[in-house]
Amino acid sequence: MTTATAEALSDAARAFVASAPHKLLIGADWVEAADGRKFETIDPSTGEGICEVAQSGSEDVERAVIAARSALEGSWSKMPAAGRGLVLYKLADLIEANAAELAELEALDNGKPVTMASAVDLPLAVAHLRYYAGWPTKIEGETIPVSWPQMFCYTRKEPVGVCGQIIPWNFPLLMATWKIAPALAAGCTVVLKPAEQTPLTALRLGQLIQEAGIPDGVVNILTGDGSTGAAIVEHPGVDKVAFTGSTEVGRQIGETAGRMLKRVTLELGGKSPNIILPDADIEAAIKGSFQGIYFNTGQACNAGSRLFVHKDQYDTVVSALADAARSARVGPGLEKDTQFGPVVSSEQHDRVLAYIDAGKQAGAEAVAGGDGAGEGLSNGGYFVPPTLFANVTDDMSIAREEIFGPVLVAMPYDDLEEVARRANDTEYGLAAGVWTRDVAKAHKLAAMLKAGSVYLNVWGPSDPAAPFGGYKASGFGREMGHANLDAYLEVKTVWTSLSEAAPSAAVG
Ligand code: NAI
Ligand code: MG
Repeated sequence: MTTATAEALSDAARAFVASAPHKLLIGADWVEAADGRKFETIDPSTGEGICEVAQSGSEDVERAVIAARSALEGSWSKMPAAGRGLVLYKLADLIEANAAELAELEALDNGKPVTMASAVDLPLAVAHLRYYAGWPTKIEGETIPVSWPQMFCYTRKEPVGVCGQIIPWNFPLLMATWKIAPALAAGCTVVLKPAEQTPLTALRLGQLIQEAGIPDGVVNILTGDGSTGAAIVEHPGVDKVAFTGSTEVGRQIGETAGRMLKRVTLELGGKSPNIILPDADIEAAIKGSFQGIYFNTGQACNAGSRLFVHKDQYDTVVSALADAARSARVGPGLEKDTQFGPVVSSEQHDRVLAYIDAGKQAGAEAVAGGDGAGEGLSNGGYFVPPTLFANVTDDMSIAREEIFGPVLVAMPYDDLEEVARRANDTEYGLAAGVWTRDVAKAHKLAAMLKAGSVYLNVWGPSDPAAPFGGYKASGFGREMGHANLDAYLEVKTVWTSLSEAAPSAAVG
């Protein structure tokens, strides 16, 4: 363990890191990749390697799919619904009991503040598992009042099967629970692939999954990169793919799933508009808009990255946000007073800085940040101070493309219809926000905005019961709530003749 920030780790987290090189969870066993390949996961606060992790290839995908299929047809399908609920509750309890260690591993691997991981990622992961733990005993079919005489018709809800689940690096453990909880509640089995930037908490989760008594092969964990993800998507034994990540990769997965006629859910990018109306509680709007973009160093799919402020208040709001951005405490995730950590990788660092340059080239004015790593942070970590652009036009790349970093663009507007039109003028449709005291305007805009979530006088609350997902290029299907459970279930219609005479007609 070479990384300097890792010195701050507790004994438990340190011991987990030191048990590297980390292996793959396939069936009951932790195994090396079939071809022995490994990769290093990097500490974004220093740019140094943390430890080695197995790099799965197609042979490992094959082994994991076989293990998942055998669990699906064996131990998992034999477990009663209440039993599935109990092991999910148990897993939630184990995550809660190990929350401090998991939060540290997340802060080390992803760079996010350990305080934030403890306050947000961990409790939401636990809540998510508990929400879905309640579902298995409530998955009910229906009796259907068909117009055939002497016919008994009913539906059964059955698990879709083996699910390939591919997740990103911005909320690694939380995304893993978002994916496995509904799948397991529905009775599916899983091949889970964490992002190559942040494999550690998924691997620790694998240990807790075993400890919780979830039968072998129900959850298989394959670390690896995009090639591993692609092999999972293309494997004919994978019945459904659930993906969270870039719109670019989402399109590829959608194509493959379409060709192979697999079930698919996609939770993709965003460029979400955040609108402050003139009658808003301006202080609350400024605070909420600040968190809405800079939370998790801007690495949230639902970040409020396009701010629209009425022209009369534009200067006031921009200057308050710039002051707050300049005084933010940016630093390593494991330092207790860090407010915003680094971005996750050198690739992401380059990408975000390239957008900042493009903004300046296009004539936008960086009223906060905008100058690379910033003072005092040049220790090899991937830091980007909160950046705010004014003088932005709607056609600039910084106003149109997902940056996925701490970069906000602020634009003035004149009236409601105009701002709604401009807010919707994007290929994305994940989230949108409105700050106003006028209930009628709030709900009028809520109906006009083309987004999967609309936030009124708040930004980005999350709850396992509330569906979350995108319109347009932001995705397909919904995470959370019973909507996501349905994505893991097939409906089977069973017809039963109650008459002794032979049936006479068929339609279909
Ligand atoms: P990505 O979409 O390439 O990676 C996300 C996950 O997909 C990772 O586990 C990765 O290994 C896997 N993956 C990559 N290529 C794949 C393929 N061909 N088939 C199957 N799985 C594949 O995202 P990346 O490159 O890390 O970030 C690029 C941009 O994507 C970011 O700048 C951001 O704009 C966006 N993004 C959006 C996220 C969201 O929550 N909606 C999360 C992460 C990134
Ligand atoms: Mg990529």
